[in-house]
Amino acid sequence: MASYRKYPNTRLRRLRQNKHIIDLVSETKLTSHDLIQPIFVKENFEGEEKIDSMPNIFRFGIENALKEIETIISAGINSIAVFPVVEPAKKDTKGSEAVNKNNFISIAIKKIKEEFPEIILIADVALDPYTDHGHDGILKNDIVENDETIKVLKDQSLLLADAGADILAPSDMMDGRIGVIRDTLEDEDFKNIILLSYAAKYNSKFYGPFREAVKSSSSLGKSSKSSYQMSIGNKDEALHEVALDISEGADIVMVKPAMPYLDIICSIKNKFNIPTFAYQVSGEYSMLKLAIEQGWLNDEVMLESLICIKRAGADAILSYAAKDISKEINNK
Ligand code: PBG
Repeated sequence: MASYRKYPNTRLRRLRQNKHIIDLVSETKLTSHDLIQPIFVKENFEGEEKIDSMPNIFRFGIENALKEIETIISAGINSIAVFPVVEPAKKDTKGSEAVNKNNFISIAIKKIKEEFPEIILIADVALDPYTDHGHDGILKNDIVENDETIKVLKDQSLLLADAGADILAPSDMMDGRIGVIRDTLEDEDFKNIILLSYAAKYNSKFYGPFREAVKSSSSLGKSSKSSYQMSIGNKDEALHEVALDISEGADIVMVKPAMPYLDIICSIKNKFNIPTFAYQVSGEYSMLKLAIEQGWLNDEVMLESLICIKRAGADAILSYAAKDISKEINNK
């Protein structure tokens, strides 16, 4: 390490004299290319509908989703993560609709990729939008059954890959699913499908507004996802999860939520040196956005939160604010 010369030889404020100097020496720059926009697409629905728990975020019917994606692209964003809001009548205990050929999400993906072939489309792999109990897998005696669930996730993955998803993102936290999905993709000649594993996904209360958005919260009720999502205080376990997912064939790993888990992002990036994404989840977004709307926080806190997530080591960030922040940084 360099030996430091003391004040007054060293004056760190020299490099903070004005914006141009500050920009020259800035270590972390956030660009549109670092941002991924999640989008909710609602089955059997036209138009757009506000999500009460997420200011300025909507559920879109497919036609409106296409328009919204155009806006997202013109804001400079090249990647989206699509989440289906499934007809309640189609939900059952096994989440059967998830593997129904030509289900709503596969039609939506096809339409999106037809209209915007260049966009990187991330599809979520998990059963919670499709189960009437709101869990990410199949229940047996009230427990989410790991190996039974993986079999369904495998078929769900093939369906999404076949529809045209570029990236599959298993968000379910079953053990061994990355390996099974990777093997299936290889066997079925989907060799270029990227696996973005939600490797370190915590059993967080910050997902509340999302569950409201996809209407899985009422199904889930008081039931918890603690038997598959990680315990919030654990860090070694996150590294263990990531190591396994890499060995099973993940191309990218994800940490979720983001801001309360910056240490996890940092440790994973430093230890594994592989693409590491972070998800600024619904609760993080709504918390900031509501305080901004109330005038309690300056609107620059959103950008600040994203820069900090990147500084911690995230290569890209899923954020509900992606479109707006992208516009903001490109107009500066
Ligand atoms: C479920 C899933 C969740 C989110 C993404 N996929 C919620 C959960 O695990 O209950 C949360 C995203 C957010 O809060 O923005 N597979």
